[in-house]
Amino acid sequence: MIGDWLDIGPVDQITSGTARTLPVVGAEEIAVFRTQKNEFYALVNKCPHKQGPLSQGIVHGNVVTCPLHNWNISLKTGEALGDDEGCVPVIPMKVDAGRMYLLRSAVVGKQAA
Ligand code: FES
Repeated sequence: MIGDWLDIGPVDQITSGTARTLPVVGAEEIAVFRTQKNEFYALVNKCPHKQGPLSQGIVHGNVVTCPLHNWNISLKTGEALGDDEGCVPVIPMKVDAGRMYLLRSAVVGKQAA
């Protein structure tokens, strides 16, 4: 049902292999990633290490490398890869007819009390 999803705009606002942040009112800053294969992922924009801005990292495959200390974070699970440990929340999203949607309940659930 469309009502369960929050429309965050057209897919072409994100270039393949990059990310951008979204001003979602009342929620934590969310980074939406578009891979070189045109897959889309949304994560809270805080590295699980020291909260680096993942949206400014390098996207390769389904992984983003944090710009601060080069941890590799899975875009699918939000987990740190390799020897590093930590996890950042992933926001379920979908693409439909050229527009991106975030699962509304996931966004609302992250609002500060
Ligand atoms: S803050 Fe991301 S690797 Fe340190």
